[in-house]
Amino acid sequence: MRYQSVRMDQIPPYMFAELGKKKAAMIKSGIDVIDLGIGDPDLPTPAHIVDKLVEEARKPENLRYPQFSGHPVFRKAVAEFYKREYGIELDPETEVLALIGSKEGLSHLVPAMIDPGEIVLVPDPCYPPYRMAAVLAGGMYHDMPMVKENGFLPDFEEIPENVLEKARLMFLNYPGNPTAAVADGPFFQNAVDFAKRKGIIIAHDSAYNKVAFSGYKPPSILEARGAKDVAVEFGSLSKTYCMTGWRIGYVVGNRDVIKALAVFKSNTDTGVFTPIQLAGAHALLSDQTCVDTHNDIYFARMKGMIEALQEIGIEVERPKASFFIWAPVPAGYSSSGFAEAVLEQAGVIVTPGSAFGPSGEGYFRISLSVPNARLDEAIGRIKRKIKI
Ligand code: MLT
Repeated sequence: MRYQSVRMDQIPPYMFAELGKKKAAMIKSGIDVIDLGIGDPDLPTPAHIVDKLVEEARKPENLRYPQFSGHPVFRKAVAEFYKREYGIELDPETEVLALIGSKEGLSHLVPAMIDPGEIVLVPDPCYPPYRMAAVLAGGMYHDMPMVKENGFLPDFEEIPENVLEKARLMFLNYPGNPTAAVADGPFFQNAVDFAKRKGIIIAHDSAYNKVAFSGYKPPSILEARGAKDVAVEFGSLSKTYCMTGWRIGYVVGNRDVIKALAVFKSNTDTGVFTPIQLAGAHALLSDQTCVDTHNDIYFARMKGMIEALQEIGIEVERPKASFFIWAPVPAGYSSSGFAEAVLEQAGVIVTPGSAFGPSGEGYFRISLSVPNARLDEAIGRIKRKIKI
């Protein structure tokens, strides 16, 4: 008797789910675990967004099935957000789709775009769902290695011709998870031109588009000339507005890709709870002071953590965006060996770089999603307990 498909044999449990279980077991056994693993903001969702949810949840008409492609108010809010932030015009009807978080959308995009045997190009290291979605769709993935010397940007010229022949979709992600790297307008223009020449769809994951510091403003790939011909961009309210648990995101851009994804999704899910969409629209269009407040907090944490890492001999450049620190592991450790030592001996969760792909070996990722005092405690424990 088989209890899963052959395809599922290739799918490991989700790394953060496993880490979560381990954390729960350690806490149960009385260990005070500090979680610098998953990128799940500790800061509360701003009150005005929660209030809007409560208000909308009291209206019976909002408690029925949501509209499949998203509530018109939410889709219009996303279009207005793009106009305000990037000067980009979007048709809310055809160029915006609501998602149950961007992870859902980008995972479902893959089977909507590729057929069995086709290839998805993924950055290496990357957010793990890109690779697994390719496998789940009966396709394959090709890692595009990214190295520090190249600013953690992939080199498209390095992709072998025989891979390009079967490549249908390429993921990009800036500000980057896990590397915290950023991409500029010319990089996106080059990516769009390349994708057009090769007949590849680009899925740009911009989950960290508003988590940025010192006046830096991450660009949208849709600002590149001709981007709407080949690209879609995923966005999330999770990180910007501390709404990870709400599960709301969107995808914008090429209308044919969006149409295919909308048809796929209407056959597999029934959309986002309407009050969440209306509160999400409110988040995007109301006063944005909370975004600056969150970023100031992450910036202070980042500064402190980078200084503390320096003191133990780990050198990291200060990222311009995201709330991640992508740091080299101390000499003598592998990525997983270091993460394991830090967890077992110091009760601190960090994510091993190798969990994001082969090019992540030699690194570990810190998520700045705990208050300063806990960050200090974490680094203190690492100093005391880990041989560096
Ligand atoms: C991360 O920490 O990389 C993400 O927040 C994890 C996730 O979305 O599952």
